[in-house]
Amino acid sequence: MDIVVWGTGKDAVEMLGHLELEDINLLAFVDENAQAGATFLNRQVIRPEMLGGQNFDALFITSARWEEPRRRALEDCGVPEDKIHAYHHKRFGLLRRFGKKGVLPGHLTDDDIAALDSKAWYHQVDLFPGVTTPGPASLQGFLLDQVGPRGFEGKRVLDIGAWTGPYSFEVERRGGVVTSYDIQDPETSGYNLLRALKGSNAEYVRDSVYNLSTHFRNHFDVILFFGVFYHLKNPVWAFENIHAALKDGGIMLYEGAVLEYAYTLDPVWAARKDRMQPYLEVPMAYYTTGDCLGHFSNWYVPNVLCLREWITSSGFETKDMYLLPGGSRAYGSARKLADVPLEHSS
Ligand SMILES: C[S@@+](CC[C@H](N)C(=O)[O-])C[C@H]1O[C@@H](n2cnc3c(N)ncnc32)[C@H](O)[C@@H]1O
Repeated sequence: MDIVVWGTGKDAVEMLGHLELEDINLLAFVDENAQAGATFLNRQVIRPEMLGGQNFDALFITSARWEEPRRRALEDCGVPEDKIHAYHHKRFGLLRRFGKKGVLPGHLTDDDIAALDSKAWYHQVDLFPGVTTPGPASLQGFLLDQVGPRGFEGKRVLDIGAWTGPYSFEVERRGGVVTSYDIQDPETSGYNLLRALKGSNAEYVRDSVYNLSTHFRNHFDVILFFGVFYHLKNPVWAFENIHAALKDGGIMLYEGAVLEYAYTLDPVWAARKDRMQPYLEVPMAYYTTGDCLGHFSNWYVPNVLCLREWITSSGFETKDMYLLPGGSRAYGSARKLADVPLEHSS
């Protein structure tokens, strides 16, 4: 089979690593910015407009934003629809059809494949060796490493905002007894499907962090709170509920958007790029009616000083806080102290 691969990035290399190359004759790569005479993996790299002149059996689009290349291949280059396959769309069907023997386990049924390909994945979850779900967000293992190599062994762990469950499944792999927690329906989000395919024993509670204390009190050794606090209108309430659900001395690991370097992501803050310092000198959170950083579900985005205050005023002792590469998100760990400071006393 003669194929052409659109894309010359790491996804192209990853996909080719999964294909049955003995059956495949790789003719060329396609790249928007290809220079004359360019090569990749010893093959010619052509520009999209040259695709029409090629004779091939299949075109594999490897970029995450596959829709526009697909449209161009179809409409501008006249490539028939049935020859176009996208690595980020219906990945499992593609691997079943063109993949190496064993890249997908033999017991995976057609229904499993159809179910996996029916989801709009948010996370890249490790599902089979080298094969992940095709989502934009990946597990950041260093967030979990904060508790040390044996930190989850035998511990009760809650993953708030679990979504498809990558952190839950990884903590379980590291020996934790996991409860996943989210407002989303685990059937729709893909969590239940991954849980079944991975053979996970994690439990799932579908509810808001605002109701956490109605489910659990003094129960968990570790609570993960990744990517959630800036999606809340009442972040301090959430931190206090986490405090209540932890055992005394329990650990919260947190991660999320902060105002530092928000100008790299947000047009409103981009205009203030050279005037950021005053916004970072006092504890301060930027509140919008849900559009900060270009997404309706973002409400308060605190600076690092403010995030620290939210956490300590919810009854935690914080350790160091770090910025993620890019600087617009912070993470760290905090230990539950016995008491939450009073809000008001008469
Ligand atoms: C940006 S995602 C983070 C997913 C994952 N924890 C990560 O870090 O990759 C935010 C998650 O928080 C969940 N979420 C939003 N509001 C919530 C609430 N009030 N209670 C519990 N989960 C919530 C969303 O459904 C979503 O799954």
